[in-house]
Amino acid sequence: MESEESSKKKFASIDDIPGLGQSTANRLRELGFNTVESLAMATVRELVQAGIGERKAFEIINAARSSTSLSFIRVDELVEKRQNVMRLTTGSKKLDALLGGGIETQSITEFYGEYGSGKSQIAHQLCVNVQLSTEKGGLNGGALYVDTENTFRTERITPMARHVGLDPDEAFKHIILAEAYTSDHQIFLLENADKIVKENNIRLIIVDSLTAHFRSEYIGRESLAERQQKLNQHMHKLIRLARAFNAVAFVTNQVMASPDVFFEEPVRPVGGHIVAHTSHTRIFLRKAKRGPVRIARLVSSPYLPEGECLFMITENGIEDVGEEHSVE
Ligand code: GTP
Ligand code: MG
Repeated sequence: MESEESSKKKFASIDDIPGLGQSTANRLRELGFNTVESLAMATVRELVQAGIGERKAFEIINAARSSTSLSFIRVDELVEKRQNVMRLTTGSKKLDALLGGGIETQSITEFYGEYGSGKSQIAHQLCVNVQLSTEKGGLNGGALYVDTENTFRTERITPMARHVGLDPDEAFKHIILAEAYTSDHQIFLLENADKIVKENNIRLIIVDSLTAHFRSEYIGRESLAERQQKLNQHMHKLIRLARAFNAVAFVTNQVMASPDVFFEEPVRPVGGHIVAHTSHTRIFLRKAKRGPVRIARLVSSPYLPEGECLFMITENGIEDVGEEHSVE
């Protein structure tokens, strides 16, 4: 009876988990487990690394899981969980439609394309849009922007916020910027993000760019396996955060020349199979011959058909293409 009672308990903080002493709680925090949600998704191995006995680790994780109801799931409940998936507008109705109504929470959406194709502009726009009410296509939440290339500009947020009727100074308060200096630092930032995500009601996690550091640091064949293993670990952390907090995970990726002549496009995304299989939805962006128009192609999705659409980057942000812009 007692175990049934405790299995239904909801723990607000990791300190509330029975049998978890202060020093263990502190060690867990050092490892980035600041919330019950993150503990529920931890592996026994991760906790053993914190010097916690295997059995104890198992109990802690189970207690956290029962608290957050994340373990076994009946399919009718899965349907319900899917119904919790929400969608974030990109600012373009056409692009939203291509994505099945916007960018969905609880999974990873990747935009890849060459320089200037609009990946970071969309990232900025999402930081603004996530703050809107759900009626307006937002998620009533904040954004976490992991910036690996010193890309983030408040100057871009200002007109975008004004355009959707938000006070820029208010909008700034709901965007948390995390600058990542190396790939290890980038991994570290996400590993330790759960508390910030929870406390700031973050509903959008951006990694711009997902692959740039990895690509410049791991050069040559011999380091490829390690790079892929780290990318894999990084992306899984991102998925776990997105699921635990019903957040959108948005990553950007560069392209490289495709040596394979049979490949449909002359370029392909960086990151190989790991990134391809871990991103649930992938969009390929390219520039129209000139001007503000961009072409977005949905190249992979768990349930949506492939397709293409146009959108535009203007001073105001991401918008649908007006009549006056022909595409060449
Ligand atoms: P990399 O990070 O270099 O791979 O490129 P990216 O895909 O992130 O490109 P980004 O999103 O930074 O797009 C840059 C492009 O957006 C510029 O070349 C402009 O065409 C457009 N852009 C950026 N800011 C403005 C602006 O204030 N007004 C207008 N009209 N266009 C803008
Ligand atoms: Mg960029």
